[in-house]
Amino acid sequence: MKRVLSGIQPSGQLTIGNYIGALRNFVKLQHSHSCYFMIVDLHAITVPQEPAALKEQTESVAALYLAAGIDPAKASIFLQSQVSAHAELGWLLTTLTYMGELERMTQFKDKSSGKESVGAGLFTYPSLMAADILLYKADLIPVGDDQKQHLELTRDLAVRFNNRFGELFAMPEPYMPEIAGRVMSLDDASKKMSKSNPNAASFIAILDEPDVIRKKLSRAVTDSGREVKYDPQNKPEVSNLIGIYSHFAELSVAEIEAKYEGQGYGPFKKELAEHIVSVLEPIQQRYKEIRSSGAVHDVLKKGAEEAAIVANETLREVKKLMGFLVN
Ligand code: TYM
Repeated sequence: MKRVLSGIQPSGQLTIGNYIGALRNFVKLQHSHSCYFMIVDLHAITVPQEPAALKEQTESVAALYLAAGIDPAKASIFLQSQVSAHAELGWLLTTLTYMGELERMTQFKDKSSGKESVGAGLFTYPSLMAADILLYKADLIPVGDDQKQHLELTRDLAVRFNNRFGELFAMPEPYMPEIAGRVMSLDDASKKMSKSNPNAASFIAILDEPDVIRKKLSRAVTDSGREVKYDPQNKPEVSNLIGIYSHFAELSVAEIEAKYEGQGYGPFKKELAEHIVSVLEPIQQRYKEIRSSGAVHDVLKKGAEEAAIVANETLREVKKLMGFLVN
C-alpha cells in the first residue's frame, strides 16, 4: 500500500483553503493508502506563538481532523513534537541543505519580509519539512499549491542523501487539487487565503458560523462584470469563487458556468455560501462533540506510537548510513 504523509500548522483558525488543499484529500486518501497525518507544532513555532494559544490551537486542529472525517483506525494522527525523530532528522538534513536553496524559498521570503528580526528556524523550516516526509518514505503528499517548492527541495534532499550515503529514500509526489490548489483571499485575489491574515473577512474559517460565512461571501470582492466565467487571468476573483464552488458542490467548472449563465453574481454567491455551509455545519457539530469528549488525547497518543515505529526505524537507517554509531 502506498504511503501518504502530510501536516498542518496549528497557527490560527484553519480556513477553507486548508480544507480544499489538504484536509479534504486527507479524508479521501485514508481509504486507499497507509496514512500519517501530523499537526506540525514544531513548524508553528518558527514564528512566535503564545504557549496557551499554541496548546489550544493544537487541540483544535486535532479535533478538526477527526470532525472532518479522518478515522484514527485507518490513519495515524499525531503531533510532530511527540515523535522526536522529526527534530533529529530535521537537523541531519539541515546539514545537507544549502543556504542558497533556503534563500530561494518564497514562503521564507514572504514570512520574513519587512520583519526586523527573523528566527533561524523560519529559514531552516524546509529541512524539517523534508524530514517529516522522508522519515515515512512517503509516496504521496497531499498539499496545496503553495507547498510545491518545499516538496521539490525535499526531493532534491532525498536524491542528495541517496547519492552520498546509499539508496534509502523514496521520491515523494505532490497530490494537489486540479482546481483551486491555491485558494485566494476573498478581499484580494492576488493573495493566498491564509489563516494568519489579520483581516478575518479575507478568509472563511472551517469553524465560522453559517451567518458569518454568508456575510463574508456576500462581501467577497468580484469585478464590475456579471458573467460567471472561469478565467483566472482576466477574472481572478470570480474564478477563485468558482474553484471554491466546484469543491463544495462537487460540480465541474463547466457545470457551474452553465448553471449561472445570464444570472449575474448575486445568486451564484448566495448559493455558494449555502454549499459551503452544508459541508461545514456537520463538521462543526462533530467538532463541538469531540472537543467536549476529550477524545483527542487518546487519539494523539496512539498516533504518536504508531508513527514512532516507522520514524525511528528510518532514523536508525539514516544514522547508520551517515556513519553514526548505532546500537
Ligand atoms: P500550512 O499549515 O500553511 O497549510 C496546511 C495545508 O493547507 C494548504 N493550504 C492551502 N491550500 C490551498 N489554498 C490555500 N489558500 C491554502 N492555504 C494552505 C497548504 O498547502 C498545506 O497543504 N509546510 C506546511 C506544513 C508541513 C507539511 C509537512 C506538509 C510541515 N511538514 C510535511 C506536508 C508534508 C505548511 O506550512 O502548511
